[in-house]
Order: sequence, then structure tokens, then C-alpha cells
Amino acid sequence: MFLTAEEKAMLSGEFGEGVALAMRVLVGIGEAFDAPRMVEITRAHAALSNQEADTWFAERLAKGGATCRVRPTVNPGFDLDYFRKVTTISDADAEMMERTHNAYKALGAILSYSCTPYLFDNIPHRGEIVAFSESSATPYVNSVWGARSNRESSQSALCAAVTGRVPLYGYLLDENRLGKVLVKVEARIKNDFDYTLLGYAAPKKIGNDVPVFVGMPEVPTPEGLMNLGAELNTAGAVTIYHIVGVTPEAPTIEAAFGGRSPERTVTITDQDLKETHRHLSKPPGKIDFVMMGCPHLTISQVQKIAAMVKGRRLASELWVSVSSYTKEMAGRMGLLQEIEEAGGHVVADTCIDEPCWHHLAGKVGATDSPKCAYYATRRDMSFVIRSLEECVESALRGEAK
Ligand code: F3S
Repeated sequence: MFLTAEEKAMLSGEFGEGVALAMRVLVGIGEAFDAPRMVEITRAHAALSNQEADTWFAERLAKGGATCRVRPTVNPGFDLDYFRKVTTISDADAEMMERTHNAYKALGAILSYSCTPYLFDNIPHRGEIVAFSESSATPYVNSVWGARSNRESSQSALCAAVTGRVPLYGYLLDENRLGKVLVKVEARIKNDFDYTLLGYAAPKKIGNDVPVFVGMPEVPTPEGLMNLGAELNTAGAVTIYHIVGVTPEAPTIEAAFGGRSPERTVTITDQDLKETHRHLSKPPGKIDFVMMGCPHLTISQVQKIAAMVKGRRLASELWVSVSSYTKEMAGRMGLLQEIEEAGGHVVADTCIDEPCWHHLAGKVGATDSPKCAYYATRRDMSFVIRSLEECVESALRGEAK
């Protein structure tokens, strides 16, 4: 692939071994996808996992002297100080979190530790070329904001942040962003939880093709679209979707398909959502805890929870995962106190797929997120899946209906 003089200098090590390694990774990806050249990026989000391989790679870049030309926001690990107060954290787990923090800090990342940067501190404009990893983030910036990102890995996004470039291929190109499959949504999408079920149900019918949804609400909520993207990329791999009349590249059905006919048409019915829900969820019954915030909840979701638990006492543990920004707002607004007085926890900077949750292993919870249920399975938790409001009611009762 063609490289500019500066890109060749990066590759040959003139900017240090860390930058050379990042450029080698990107050239490798570019060659694998027949990219003709690199393009500059304006934003990045690295979905750090706080797991050995990911942290090792970030440390290797940092030890090689790399710093980010484009500072990326980063995914959550866990709030070490908070969890040290409420549970036990092994020395090994604490050390990993500290190593992750130090590596990304040395690289110059924005230490936001949230999986929803696209809602508050890393919002691209339409047409911006960016490198976003994280399952709900990539479809949000592509579909809702109209920016251009491939479905990056944590490592490729970090390499893009270090070099300020990505290879030109895939969803950066007009032709690959066009719709392929028309999705007629006959199911009634009444609330944010229905977007969740739609996101999980759709990939079975659409595969990984670019879907164009029709029949959806004209004014979706950010939370609904956040849930849709997260679940499209849990049950499938969907980098961009269009909603006719809603998302910027789909003002009309013709625009969404670039004037071509859909390759396929599928229908999603209420029955599909119902079956998806039944298949995903454990049967109702006693629960030990409720976990929400996968992806991190917004301030309006926290507001709903606080209003429901205010002045009451929870019968099971309640864990609400948010960004540090949302937690700060919740504190200022008195919502944090209301949830804590009821016996709940609001935690910042924390992913549900982290070792800090070891005290919940073997227990049954309720969650509004199939993505949470999917990842937490490997930590030996199982879940009844309900809407956010039903989850809060379940926490108040100690039982999911
Ligand atoms: Fe966020 Fe972790 Fe879920 S990054 S979307 S809380 S799996």
C-alpha cells in the first residue's frame, strides 16, 4: 500500500519502536484488506479490557516510547478504590488495574473509563474519520452521528491513536456503508428495552449485512439506540445500521440503499422479540442481585432508578454502572444519595466483565442487558432479563417476576 514519507518514517522506527509497532499493525491490516493508503483520523476510542494481553500490548507501545497523536477515550476497567471498600480485591487483580491505568496514562489516553463516550465526551461530526472500538460505540458513531469508523479492536484503535491514521478500507468507503438488507420492523418498539430485544433478535435474520430498518419510532431515545447497537454486536457483528428518516445517511429508503434494491427483505415481529426474550432469560424467581449499566447508564436512566427506590429499602443488591461524569452529576443532583440510602451502589469506571464482581459468582441476578448476561456467564453469574424498570422492582422485591 502507498505510504507517505512520514508514514514510512513511522514504520522504519524514526519515531521510536512503539510507533513503528503501531504502524506495522496498521499496515498489516491495510494489506489484508487491500487498502490503497492510510487516512488521518480525528478521534479514537480504545476498548481496553484490563486483561493481560491487552495491557501487555499497551505497555509494549509505551515502553517503545509511543504517545498518542490523537488521544483516545478508553473503556472501563474497574474502580479499584470503590471495590476495595466493598469487597476483597486480590493483589493480582489490583496490580492488573494499576498496570492498565499506568500504561494508558503513559500513552496519553483520555482516562474516561466509559463504554459510552459517544454520548458525552467523544462525539464526532458527520463524515469525520475515526477509529472506535467497543460494540455499542462503533455502530453509534457510524449510524447515529454519521462518522466513519471500521469495527476496530482495542489494539487497532490504539495503534490508530498512536499514529493518527487508519488504513482506508471497509466502512470508511461510501459503497460499503450502503444498506443491503431491508428490515421491516412490525414489532411495536415502545420503550428502550424493545430496542434491546430488537438488537438481539435481528442478527439471526440479517447476518452481518448492513441493515436498513423501517417501521421504527421517528424520535428514538439515545438509550434506545445505545441498546440497539450494543445488542446488534453481541448477537452479531453490525458496524453500521440505518433507520429511515432517523439516521443521517438514510433520509429516504433510496438514499439508504444508494438507489439499489435491497438484496433481501426480512421482517421482525412481536413474536420474534418475545421468543428472543424467552430464549435469553432465565425463568422468573428469587434473585440475589440486580446489575445494570452494560453499556453504562445515562443520567436520565439513573434518575428513573432513583425515583423508584427513593425512601424504600432494596431486598437484593443493586449495582448501577455509569461513567464518572454521570456519577458526578448523580451526586450533584442528590440521586446518588437516594440510591445509596436504599442500599444500592452506583459505580463509575467499571465494566461488568471484570474480576471485581467475584462475590457474585454462582449467584442469580437480573439485568436489562443481554450483553451483560452474555459476558457475565464466564464469571459464573446467570440472569433473568427484564426492562430497567422491572429490574428495579425486582431489586426491591428480591424476586424477578
Ligand atoms: Fe460496557 Fe463492559 Fe458492558 S465495556 S458495554 S459494561 S461489557
